[in-house]
Amino acid sequence: MTTYPKRLIEVDLPIKRISAHARREKSIRHGHISTLHIWWARRPLAACRAVICAALWPDPAQEDCPLRFREDAEAIMARFWNPIGRSDLDFSDPMALRRALLDFIADFSNWDNSTDQRYLETARALTHSAHVALGGAPGTRPLVVDPFAGGGSIPLEALRVGADAFASDLNPVAVLLNKVVLEYIPKYGQKLADEVRKWGEWIKIEAEKELGQFYPKDPDGATPIAYLWARTVTCEGPGCGAEVPLMRSLWLAKKSNRSIALRMILDQEKKRVDFEIIQDFKAQDVGEGTVRRGSATCPVCGYTTPVASVRKQLKARRGGAADARLFCVVTTKPGQQGRFYRLPTERDLEAVRNAAEELERRKATHTGELSLVPDEPYPDETGAGALSSSVLYGPKIWGDIFTPRQALALTTMVRLVKEAGTRMAADNNPDIAVPVQTCLALIFDRVADLANSFCGWTLDTQCTKHLFARQAIPFVWNFAEGIPIGDSAGSWCVVVERFENIIDSIPNDLMIGLNQQANATSIPLPDDAAQAIITDPPYYDAIAYGDLSDFFYIWLRRLMGNVYPSLFITTLVDKTNEIVQLSKRFKGPYSHKTNEYFEEGMTRALAEGRRVLHPSGLGVVVFAHKSTAGWEAMLQAMINAGWTFTGSWPIDTEMGTRMNAMGTASLASSIHLVCRPRENPDGSVREDDVGNWSDVLNELPQRIHAWLPGLAAEGVVGADAIFSCLGPALEIYSRYSRVEKASGEVVALKEYLEEVWAAVSREALGMIFEGGDGSGLEEDARLTAMWLWTLSAGADNSGNNRSSNEGEGETDEDKSPKSTLKGFVLEYDAARKIAQGLGARMENLTTLVEVKGDKARLLPVSERTSYLFGQGSPAAKKERKKKKEEQTTLSGGVASAAETGGPAGELSLPPPGSTVLDRLHQAMLLFSNGRSDALKRFIQEDIGQDQGLWSLAQSLSALYPAGSEERRWVEGVLTRKKSLGI
Ligand SMILES: C[S@@+](CC[C@H](N)C(=O)[O-])C[C@H]1O[C@@H](n2cnc3c(N)ncnc32)[C@H](O)[C@@H]1O
Ligand SMILES: [Zn+2]
Repeated sequence: MTTYPKRLIEVDLPIKRISAHARREKSIRHGHISTLHIWWARRPLAACRAVICAALWPDPAQEDCPLRFREDAEAIMARFWNPIGRSDLDFSDPMALRRALLDFIADFSNWDNSTDQRYLETARALTHSAHVALGGAPGTRPLVVDPFAGGGSIPLEALRVGADAFASDLNPVAVLLNKVVLEYIPKYGQKLADEVRKWGEWIKIEAEKELGQFYPKDPDGATPIAYLWARTVTCEGPGCGAEVPLMRSLWLAKKSNRSIALRMILDQEKKRVDFEIIQDFKAQDVGEGTVRRGSATCPVCGYTTPVASVRKQLKARRGGAADARLFCVVTTKPGQQGRFYRLPTERDLEAVRNAAEELERRKATHTGELSLVPDEPYPDETGAGALSSSVLYGPKIWGDIFTPRQALALTTMVRLVKEAGTRMAADNNPDIAVPVQTCLALIFDRVADLANSFCGWTLDTQCTKHLFARQAIPFVWNFAEGIPIGDSAGSWCVVVERFENIIDSIPNDLMIGLNQQANATSIPLPDDAAQAIITDPPYYDAIAYGDLSDFFYIWLRRLMGNVYPSLFITTLVDKTNEIVQLSKRFKGPYSHKTNEYFEEGMTRALAEGRRVLHPSGLGVVVFAHKSTAGWEAMLQAMINAGWTFTGSWPIDTEMGTRMNAMGTASLASSIHLVCRPRENPDGSVREDDVGNWSDVLNELPQRIHAWLPGLAAEGVVGADAIFSCLGPALEIYSRYSRVEKASGEVVALKEYLEEVWAAVSREALGMIFEGGDGSGLEEDARLTAMWLWTLSAGADNSGNNRSSNEGEGETDEDKSPKSTLKGFVLEYDAARKIAQGLGARMENLTTLVEVKGDKARLLPVSERTSYLFGQGSPAAKKERKKKKEEQTTLSGGVASAAETGGPAGELSLPPPGSTVLDRLHQAMLLFSNGRSDALKRFIQEDIGQDQGLWSLAQSLSALYPAGSEERRWVEGVLTRKKSLGI
């Protein structure tokens, strides 16, 4: 079997420091490429940069590392570190050289160093040396391919570190983004920035001329910066018929020093709701909004129009954006700090009417292939899975999600962007006309993201919220309309200014990256062309890229359709070949996008990646998913596609929102699966090395034992750590073309993964109960400990799964009821696998775990009260029976008169539970109920000497989420025991 020199990423990676830089990068809004345009689930550049370097550079400490690279790296590292005082390192020692390279990678992943010439030159020198040392022709660069390029983070970083990049994506919006990032910016740099600024300014002036009248200033000189609207329904209460403004809340601003809200004023006779603006009030004086979970309560008569009727009414009015009710105008005043809130005046309403009339006029005279206002169909209910609740309330066409004034402003800007392109082409600048127009189109998209009826109002920053704060399009009842002209946040000119910062953040000496629209299953590159495939494919069912991107596509088609005709052929984004699992969320159009579809599509894409990759090359596939099904499909695809795993690194990017609006567990880390083609030197897949199942099973626990504690030391715990074990575990399995049992039966991946989960659970339990493996514990205790540990990765560690960042104005219905479940929720299949690995059976533990659908819930201790204390509980029954038989009373087991005579609902001292965990929970419940005496006796007489119980208590006190009741209670019990001198 041919082997190739190991790359750094196959040996080590400073994940803790890289993760820290990746997280910090998320907060950078100034000049970051992600501010160019929305793309969902962008990878942080820090992680991409580090991973690419470590994937391209060999490990100098391997025996077969090419000498040339070792020598070059030694010189380059000495040149880099010595001047800044790291003369302590002896770079001639291969291990020290490895450390120096890894240190460099960690530092270079810092955003602040990403344009530093010293770092750039060093990285590029290493990349070049590695390439040549590994067989590349001098003067050439290694080619990094990303066939799922999205917003282009990976190829951009490949260019930065001195590689060539090829980026493709199926989605036309992504392709356009990559064109700008990888081609136009490197090619035109500052000139592009200058032209975009110039033409951006021209558009601003022209737009203001045309649109200014529709956003009139106040007579006192105040300038509106936002208009606040509420959709409405007619109250269906008997004899009422009032117009109900649909409002989630009546708050307008909520800052430490200043709070502003609305008060509703009701005219019972006219059946009318009016508003007044209030300040200096107590928070509890602010009334409730009118909508809850989609139904609308009439402030006039109190009747609640049910959600079905609300939907019906809004549907009849295509979502109700066009005839929403203006209830407040937010302004700024010259020379005065802050925002001012006033009720709308007749002037405001007139401007709105005029805008609508103007739009109608323009529609009537509009010519051209495409409608003025996008008339492409908006998804119906069957699209709810992809877009979230906005599809339930009736927009029929995409244009319906804009108010007439928003549509007027946006269509004006479309025309101006196109006109700018035409003027530039006619000027003496024809070659830059297309790049500049493309950038202006992306700027337009940012404005549109902030100028639609699904933009909420943020109470703390007092700004219009953009639509794609999440990877969904949730319905918004009361929305904010910003002013696209002018200088306030969200206006055209603010986005233009940002563009220049982005160009500044990209080194001005980048090579031009190749980019193209392509299905990842047929990459337009010859065999063996790439030195690395580094890619971040869709995470199973997490994001419906095609559906979300339609929001931009409909506008880009109008803006750029004639410039890039091949990208904009279809009415909406063609989702046919998108590799996602959507059948679970969709009953309709995507019912064929099943688990099998995903696995099969990924297999083809990854096989194609392997074809394009040189046999000596390396792959890195980024993946994250909270479900075992998602992982199994992905891993199976990688194995089927002929890859073998050689490493795996979790990088924590705190991407809670990446997991979309499904309201279920999310992970903090993405796992970078490092892999190699399982190929013969001629590129054919190796078919003939058969692994022995018992050998594989033997090796597995050792591998996990060597891996998991290291992760914990790097701060990776819980579900993140569990999923991070899949890589090393698969190194063993995927080494072979197939693994066979003694009987000759081939072991399916699924079966192997069950073993992996078991091994990981056992190893983790050993870590939880330092030293011991918890095997002395009963199954309920083992399961509880492991369950809590698994959940401990969630950043908020609240025990509940991290919920998506819901904000004011969004629909209640988006709040998945799951996210409000109490207790500790895991995906059922994950829980089952964990349980099985620990030799516990969830079926036997129904008083501890509740299974519903695909979720399993470890009950909060409070919900175990009736089981642990109730007279009808099995434990109590058993105890009573036992007691009768023995004709004795358990010491202290009978409640004293005083205790039974307590107020209803108080706990009497229980018969001790049947397991150690039960007894501990009983003690916790006594503590929580303030049963001080009873707890004392319970400790003194029943559990005090039970060493096992106290060490379990100790472990659980670290595992119950900080801030949880359980944590408080178990700590209380421990303190009590101490105070009793036991
Ligand atoms: C996780 S995203 C990539 C994000 C990217 N790494 C970034 O940082 O912006 C996955 C991408 O795969 C693309 N995609 C889905 N199916 C595809 C296919 N069959 N061929 C090519 N790209 C596809 C989606 O359009 C999406 O942009
Ligand atoms: Zn009413």
